[in-house]
Amino acid sequence: TNVNKIPNEIKTNTNEGDFMTMTIQKEVNKRKTFAIISHPDAGKTTLTEKLLLYGNLIRSAGTVKGKKSGKFATSDWMEIEKQRGISVTSSVMNFSYQGAQVNILDTPGHEDFSEDTYRTLTAVDSVVMIIDGTKGIEAQTIKLFKVCRMRGIPIFTFINKMDREGKEPLELLEEIEEVLDIETYPMNWPAGMGKRFLGIFDRYEKQFVKFNGNEEETYIPFHELDQEVELVSQPTFEAARDELELVEEAGDEFSLDAILQGEQTPVFFGSALAPFGVQTFFDTFISLAPNPKPRKSTEGVIQPDNQEFSGFIFKIQANMNPAHRDRVAFLRVCSGKFERGMSVKVARTGKVIKLSQSQQIVASTRDTIDEAYAGDIIGIYDPNVYQIGDTLIGGKGKFEYDELPQFPPEIYKKVTAKNVMKAKQFRKGIEQLVQEGAIQLFRGHRDESFILGAVGELQYEVFQYRMKNEYNVEVLFETIGERIPRWLNREQVDPSLFDERNLLVRDREDNFLVLFRNEFALNWFKDKHPKIDLIDLFEVN
Ligand code: G4P
Repeated sequence: TNVNKIPNEIKTNTNEGDFMTMTIQKEVNKRKTFAIISHPDAGKTTLTEKLLLYGNLIRSAGTVKGKKSGKFATSDWMEIEKQRGISVTSSVMNFSYQGAQVNILDTPGHEDFSEDTYRTLTAVDSVVMIIDGTKGIEAQTIKLFKVCRMRGIPIFTFINKMDREGKEPLELLEEIEEVLDIETYPMNWPAGMGKRFLGIFDRYEKQFVKFNGNEEETYIPFHELDQEVELVSQPTFEAARDELELVEEAGDEFSLDAILQGEQTPVFFGSALAPFGVQTFFDTFISLAPNPKPRKSTEGVIQPDNQEFSGFIFKIQANMNPAHRDRVAFLRVCSGKFERGMSVKVARTGKVIKLSQSQQIVASTRDTIDEAYAGDIIGIYDPNVYQIGDTLIGGKGKFEYDELPQFPPEIYKKVTAKNVMKAKQFRKGIEQLVQEGAIQLFRGHRDESFILGAVGELQYEVFQYRMKNEYNVEVLFETIGERIPRWLNREQVDPSLFDERNLLVRDREDNFLVLFRNEFALNWFKDKHPKIDLIDLFEVN
């Protein structure tokens, strides 16, 4: 922070505390912390790369991920990531843009996404949702969207690949409204698509942005459009203008309030590859996206400009760099000022720890950071004292941020050690990985077997890899498959009602639940035993 730029009269008229608050406020107001969500192949990497170019974080396209060139994502620390050429861990990209401090949290975009992908969404203030205009809304987008909706996170939509023939814009908006149940407000309107793509009507800036087939864009104010005879005379242009008129008459009103509540999503059409409409999108996004907000805690709401430093851990990653066998905890700063070397208290245990090894995790190098404010994400060395969801506090305060939600596992497997002599290491490994939040553990009621639950297949691969490399245990899986978990009230548990198909298990708190084979089995059971309550802990709303 640049203290010298503050005029002297302000400096002398305020005491140190006020000055501190002002500095923090100023920094918080610059922060834009968001994640990009999409289904694989919608264009997340391509778009992210463009944003990093605007932020001068990279110099040329193709550095983030080159499927063909054999280069790997910035976050490829683990061997397994390299082997598969995908990003397992969510990393953070940070740069300044137009006076804002931008933090982009990467969410694994591969089909095998994990709970970390979901948890990342608890650490952001807004989300950019990319939809492939040729495909519409896809499965993974729906899952991630639901989490955003549940948490009221503002969502900005970028409909990508307008340079290809895709679905009609009106149809896409309808799909978003119906499938995702959110109002849409098109910030721009495309004229044509694919080979007939002429550009977009920018409703926000009241200008037509002409697509020239390359990175160049021409801007024509609406009131000067009629002079562009060549453009205006094209049927595609005329049709789009009529459509826009329709949208202006019949569509929802723009409401920044509704956007910030997560009830309306501003929609931008463009092409990440061309690129076209990306910079306009980003500029608008930066001006509309929210700064870090106050967060709920056990002691009420904590303001981001509160002088006391606080934050919470949303992810713990072990052995990202094989050269250092360490764990790194990802901390989202929620208030105050972080300074390297400061001491913080873990709210859960009361333990005080000096944070000397803070890192900002950008690209493949770890840069040390000296200070951070609400909205920033820092990686801190974890001497095995943190848990996911832990609150860290810099002062005397005693509070904890709201618990991080658990997400429903979708795939279940029984796990055993290949070598029975390794039972001790096996248990230790499972215990630690489960505590870290890498995977969820259940115990079979009949046979005390170890049953793992994960959001994606990849978590199993990572689990297997880490058990072998960190605990020297080879594990075997027996697939149980996709299941629907429902919890039981303790007094209603009757083990004779369950078998392999509807499996009775216990969770880590010794609560009973049933893993139903499918919707059909669940409904059949409900019909047969209407008095037994089946509790869905993961219900949205
Ligand atoms: P992801 O991270 O969401 O998985 O998507 P990614 O950016 O890797 O994009 C997936 C594919 O879609 C890539 O092609 C990419 O070039 C293409 N793509 C992204 N944005 C656009 C766009 O605006 N228009 C068009 N026409 N294509 C786009 P690929 O052939 O699968 O990969 P690559 O080998 O070319 O990188």
